Amino acid sequence: MNLKEVIKLADELVFARTGKHLNDLQETILRGTWEDEDYKEIANGVHRSEDRVREVGMELWQILSKELGKKVSKSNFRSTMERLQVSLFSNVVQDHVRVGHINFCGESRHPPDIPNSHPPNPEKTNTKQTKTSHQDLSEMPELGAFYDRTPELKTLAKSITQEHCRLVTILGMSGIGKTALSVQLVKQIKDEFEYVIWYSLATSPTITEFQTNLIQFFSNSEKVDLTATNGTRLPLFKYLQKHRCLVVLDDVHNLFSSGQLAGYYKQGYEEYRSLFKQIEELSHNSCFLLIGWEQPREVAQLKSKHTPLRTLTLKGLDNASAREILRDKGLAEEENWDAVIDRYEGNPLWLKSVATLIEELGSSVSDILQNEPIFLPEDLKDVLRQQFDRLSEIEKQVLSLLAKEIAPINLAKLLENSRITSSDLLNALQSLSRRCLLEQQANFYTLRPVLRQYIKRL
Ligand SMILES: Nc1ncnc2c1ncn2[C@@H]1O[C@H](COP(=O)(O)OP(=O)(O)OP(=O)(O)O)[C@@H](O)[C@H]1O
Ligand SMILES: [Mg+2]
Repeated sequence: MNLKEVIKLADELVFARTGKHLNDLQETILRGTWEDEDYKEIANGVHRSEDRVREVGMELWQILSKELGKKVSKSNFRSTMERLQVSLFSNVVQDHVRVGHINFCGESRHPPDIPNSHPPNPEKTNTKQTKTSHQDLSEMPELGAFYDRTPELKTLAKSITQEHCRLVTILGMSGIGKTALSVQLVKQIKDEFEYVIWYSLATSPTITEFQTNLIQFFSNSEKVDLTATNGTRLPLFKYLQKHRCLVVLDDVHNLFSSGQLAGYYKQGYEEYRSLFKQIEELSHNSCFLLIGWEQPREVAQLKSKHTPLRTLTLKGLDNASAREILRDKGLAEEENWDAVIDRYEGNPLWLKSVATLIEELGSSVSDILQNEPIFLPEDLKDVLRQQFDRLSEIEKQVLSLLAKEIAPINLAKLLENSRITSSDLLNALQSLSRRCLLEQQANFYTLRPVLRQYIKRL
């Protein structure tokens, strides 16, 4: 196996996991590692600090480990790649590469279709038109240009239209593009359903308000009878069982409490638990698409490949799409864009925020890159603050501990460095991971660089 093949294979693996190709520094680290150079030698060769090279290297090993399902490190990279080349002939890994780039929890064994580089054609994907279609998409936002996300769209569409999943959740940090992705998805699949409604939970409606609104929509009537007619079945299910309905619930985290672990209902909202349980348990042909920062705890617990539930944890945009966002913003110095995309993890909102600041100040990408490791514009901090403020005290403590570490840290070390009991620590780590705030590899944890920077500056 020559170096070119190694880089190509590693690039495929990284792309499969993150949706982004290797950047220059990552490639240099791989080349150096292959040539048996240590971090210092690699760093000297590219005039970067050893710490930075080590940090990027650690992230890279993590990505490769996750994608391959086995620990990859600087010391075993070469042997791993050599073994991998052999097993590629058996096709097993090829399938893994194709599938693994989407963190699709609870998925059945059938892999999603192979991603292609072209956006799906909605005309072609919606061949099955229902006779009568009732749609209320008045709350569905219009978010402007949308780039790619082809693999995610294919996987989601397949889960809903072919596998008939009843509850699909899209999770991810603020600004990562959950709503934008869902808008595209709904446009593609809406004609498969008799009833389609986009319902924002931004105003935290009670279950009674929610059911009333939905029943009004389904029955096309002003008068709504909320008395349960069939045991404990919620009145809404009469409609969900009679028709094939798609209900999109955006900003679902508004049902959950601040200051507690992820997915605990706010006081007065516990009845939503019955809704989500019945969606899973009762027989029907409808689908709920949940979008938000947190999902109900019972949904997180129930998901497995045997249940009709799926969770997609959304990652940053691929490099080409992220570049389009910077291009739309009219950013100069194209040669430095990859570094910006890398630092801001392909998060479209974060990229827009940084690009706007650069534009408004008449500044340049290199100014911003030189300034601080990761510069956080005020509006980006606001977005992070909203998520941070929701955390429990123990989660905040754990994040502060993790923010001090650049390399991934394991449980034993975390326990040693903190005064938190092991059960509290485990629960906090699980909750942070469910909120997509942690990077995890086996029992090693680390923080995303932007988040680490935010917490260090608190
Ligand atoms: N694939 C994409 N192509 C172009 N722009 C995108 C894409 N995805 C998201 N964006 C843009 O990024 C911004 C944030 O996206 P969006 O509102 O969907 O994020 P979100 O994950 O729903 O955030 P929140 O959790 O705060 O609701 C929007 O301006 C959106 O238009
Ligand atoms: Mg959103």
